[in-house]
Amino acid sequence: MEELKSEHRACVGSTNTILKENADMHSKEDFLLSADRQTTGRGRMGRSFFSPDGGLYFSLLVHPEESAENSLFLTTLMAVAVSSAVSEVCGVKCGIKWVNDIYLDGKKICGILTEGKIGEGGKLDYAVIGAGINIEEPKAGFPEEISGVAGAVYEYGCAPEGIRKSLLDAVCRHFYAYYRKDAGAVRGRIDRGFLSEYRSRSCIIGKKIFVSENYLNNPPDYFGTDGARKALALEIDEECRLLVQYDDGEKRLLSNGEVRIRL
Ligand code: BTN
Repeated sequence: MEELKSEHRACVGSTNTILKENADMHSKEDFLLSADRQTTGRGRMGRSFFSPDGGLYFSLLVHPEESAENSLFLTTLMAVAVSSAVSEVCGVKCGIKWVNDIYLDGKKICGILTEGKIGEGGKLDYAVIGAGINIEEPKAGFPEEISGVAGAVYEYGCAPEGIRKSLLDAVCRHFYAYYRKDAGAVRGRIDRGFLSEYRSRSCIIGKKIFVSENYLNNPPDYFGTDGARKALALEIDEECRLLVQYDDGEKRLLSNGEVRIRL
């Protein structure tokens, strides 16, 4: 892999925001920005992302030779890269909860947010793939509103020295194993071969889940199961859609964004 330009800062607003604002400066290269802490970390659906010391927050700016519709594959590839890196470096077995949350022992330890700019012909000019990994539990614990869902790889004060750097290196190695560029090229393509790894890291296939199809109408902090239907998660197809079978026998192919699932 050719050398990836990168920068690490102690504290930023949001690594995604900074890279989006500076995308023009990096039009000829991929770029990685990481931080120990974010003051205005952002999550999906306009939510904020709790980003205290003890985590690892990073964004990777890439220039994919892909249509905007395929940006989901960047997010899911990053989910594979993060879960592979955490398993390899930290020696724990974490899984991917469709579509792109990383779970360890039933708790979410990483979220991923991909943003980008669409250029001519619907192609991505660039994409910024941001991930926040809860490496250590925060000193004061997680805020009450996310304490039932959020977890960390290590307890407070127990993360080994140098783990952030080792993790970041491993994430990039796993990401670029499937994000392919010709030597010296700026633009890259996603090798869909990563999907078999994605499936094998899924922690929902073959399990009973709750599906809320009206999830967009729920408030952002809604984690309940009322109104949700019980289903069996059957498989993930080539478009990364999830095939489920409800308890009444009905089968549905679910797309990213239309549902919320609970294990
Ligand atoms: C989610 O679970 O809703 C996605 C969270 C994504 C958080 C990461 S942390 C690094 C990057 N910078 C941000 O502001 N957000 C992403």
